[in-house]
Amino acid sequence: MTAYEVIKKKRDKKELTKSEIDFIVNGAVSGEIKDYQVSAFLMAVYFNGMTERETLDFTLAIANSGDKVKLDGFNGIKADKHSTGGVGDKTSLIISPVIASLGVNVVKMSGRGLGHTGGTVDKLESIKGFNVELSYDEFLAVAKKTGLSIIGQTGTFAPADKVFYALRDVTATVDSIPLIASSIMGKKLIADDDVIVLDVKVGLGAFMQSIESARELAKVMVAIGKGANKKISAVITDMNSPLGNYVGNALEVYEAVKVLKGEVKNDLYDICKALSVEILTLSDYGDREECEKAFDLVINNGEAYKKFEEFVTAQGGDLSGILSGKYKGEKVCEITAQSSGYITMLNAEKVGLSALTLGAGRTKKEDSIDYLAGIILNKKLGDRVEKGEVIAKLYSSTSNGFDMACKIFNDGVQINSEKPPVDSKVIEYIR
Ligand code: URA
Repeated sequence: MTAYEVIKKKRDKKELTKSEIDFIVNGAVSGEIKDYQVSAFLMAVYFNGMTERETLDFTLAIANSGDKVKLDGFNGIKADKHSTGGVGDKTSLIISPVIASLGVNVVKMSGRGLGHTGGTVDKLESIKGFNVELSYDEFLAVAKKTGLSIIGQTGTFAPADKVFYALRDVTATVDSIPLIASSIMGKKLIADDDVIVLDVKVGLGAFMQSIESARELAKVMVAIGKGANKKISAVITDMNSPLGNYVGNALEVYEAVKVLKGEVKNDLYDICKALSVEILTLSDYGDREECEKAFDLVINNGEAYKKFEEFVTAQGGDLSGILSGKYKGEKVCEITAQSSGYITMLNAEKVGLSALTLGAGRTKKEDSIDYLAGIILNKKLGDRVEKGEVIAKLYSSTSNGFDMACKIFNDGVQINSEKPPVDSKVIEYIR
């Protein structure tokens, strides 16, 4: 077999065998297949797609290309939740302790921020002392003790995805559903979880801009999960405007704490509840009504927050700074309404880019983050505002970037005389 033959076969729209797919994935990782041939293969997939069977084999080959996480010796179900990325999306910080407090284990590898979207690992690192780089043994020990551990993904997991992603990035082959689905699921299948729930974001601040493409991606990922014998489902959720009222790293930890303590019941609470109920039902905790009640119960009786504290402490973190108000920078700039009316657009991508400009994210891999940079939204989509009223406050530890961040934020705001419909952010379930 040669790379030339496999590329030609995919170029000619023929279905590849498992051994041809393994040949490409293993060759890409070892370097025996050169970048130009791997790129040509990716372009052939971009144009001609993959069948469900090919996509599953490709995903499994990516998952098997490096170390795996063996989750032996746990009592109970092990579950993971994955979001395709959004702005203000701190759902992992809330859902994980909620379901762990109900006896479902969460042993999770998360990512850093990507572009205008935030990442769980950066948010956790905004907690003083929190260690996202536990050794493999420490990671499993914390998870076994508390039912919850989250670390960052290291280079030894799914190296094939690293090779493919870097080439896709520079060859205009990122936005291909089989390539996105296999990249995400290839990383999810590294660990032998029983249950996976996917939060597929759609809208202005998401990878998928149309409901059709989000539905297609969700269906392909659910099919991969089922092919790998997982209990899996996907929830399509709205990412036209940010989730919750806080965007930024320590700011989002602070908002997560407020939700975990039952102090706010907003769109963030609703999405966390929908995703948690999905995980709990797949974990055979009970029927939907029982799972909904269980979610409200552990928020209201403090068990979920207690689990969050236990997890943070077990990974070396100290929440006292954030709890005493050190979650936002000292430099502040206010965004005010240019006219009176209703907010008809609060573009999630622009809000994310504005936070990035303040220092909450990275434009280059090696950039450092200002954990106190970010945004508090005083107003949300559909809210009434009067001219001059404060819509949002932008925070940073330095004054750098405020002019640009305000401009970007304002570009994403529209105010009109008619109140827009504000629907639930939970759009659809793919099971
Ligand atoms: N996230 C990933 O991990 N991979 C993709 O291809 C897109 C989003």
